[in-house]
Amino acid sequence: MGEVRAQDRKVLRVLSGEAISPPPAWMMRQAGRYLPEYRATRAEAGSFLDLCYNPAFATEVTLQPIRRFGFEASILFSDILVIPHALGQGVRFVEGEGPRLDALEGRPEFDRLRDVGDAAIFSHLAPVLEAVTSIRAALPQETTLLGFCGAPWTVASYMIGGRGTPDLAPARALAASDVELVEALIDRLVRVQTEYLIRQFRAGADAVQIFESHAGVLPEGEDALSRWSLQPIAKMIAGVRAEVPDAKIIVFCRGSGLDGHARVVPETGASAVGVDWGVDLKALRARVPTTTVTQGNLHPETLIAGGAALDAEVDGILAATKGLPHIFNLGHGITPQTPVAHVERMLARLREGA
Ligand code: CP3
Repeated sequence: MGEVRAQDRKVLRVLSGEAISPPPAWMMRQAGRYLPEYRATRAEAGSFLDLCYNPAFATEVTLQPIRRFGFEASILFSDILVIPHALGQGVRFVEGEGPRLDALEGRPEFDRLRDVGDAAIFSHLAPVLEAVTSIRAALPQETTLLGFCGAPWTVASYMIGGRGTPDLAPARALAASDVELVEALIDRLVRVQTEYLIRQFRAGADAVQIFESHAGVLPEGEDALSRWSLQPIAKMIAGVRAEVPDAKIIVFCRGSGLDGHARVVPETGASAVGVDWGVDLKALRARVPTTTVTQGNLHPETLIAGGAALDAEVDGILAATKGLPHIFNLGHGITPQTPVAHVERMLARLREGA
């Protein structure tokens, strides 16, 4: 065996259009509370944000699932909400409840946010970018390193609502009462996060994923998916590629349905579409060109269930993507109650069954 080189990173090869059997794999939220070693590091670090802003701890938890499972990709340990924090918004994570932000209710709060070009934004994010460099240096050569950020609408909806809500009522209400304000917020997020992704690439990320977790709940109006989600994402991708030509970018538009998923690559220029668990992967593959790169979409609840149901779903994903460029993943993040043994079983099935 010769030396492993960067161009041998399988996830990057698939993102360039190659079909690899068995497909390379990683899991959204792969560093997290289902792992006892994560819980131990988390207890040592203090709060969740302390963990995100400490490059040594962030590197350690990012590496944990790679050591245990040998995933072909690793994802930076951070959160999409470090961006509102860097813009000057109050952000904290309440144990057992999730994120809490000082809600952006109107113009006064928007006017207090840092603007594009303010050096304080990237001095706030310096430890995260330092973590990217430290993770790349610590990873095996063959492992792809993914950076990430949230899509503008998803981040804006947390900034406006101050927390996760199933119907995003505050963000949709503000888009109805003061559309210019929400557009200005989206535009600021596009510009700051374009620069953030460029800096992640320069710090050592091989590829990035943009998380649009709220693509299924959008403001009223014609072609809301394009206006609020796909167009802002397309601007970010074009902006990143102006500085990092050929940058590989995965876009995950959760909740956008079969039609929405089919539109992601043509309308944003993404290198791959991340597929949520609600979409029939076989139907999607039949809709898009054979050259389209897909990623996903095992149901996180099937991973909790394990057993024959898990084997069958792995087999189904392999059958739907046979001979096509695909990255194996879940259809949303792994949950804390998932048994580690089920992740091992999933990978064994994948690696022997292809
Ligand atoms: O995937 C990874 O392993 C990389 C790290 C990562 C985290 N969050 C760590 C995290 C990534 C890529 C994210 C993205 C993220 N964060 C999204 C988009 C993806 C999605 O799940 O839809 C969203 C919406 C957020 C915002 C967020 N962060 C929420 C809603 C929560 C609370 C939910 C929960 O699981 O507690 C978080 C906290 C969070 N982010 C945790 C982790 C590991 C759990 C925090 C802890 O350890 O206490």
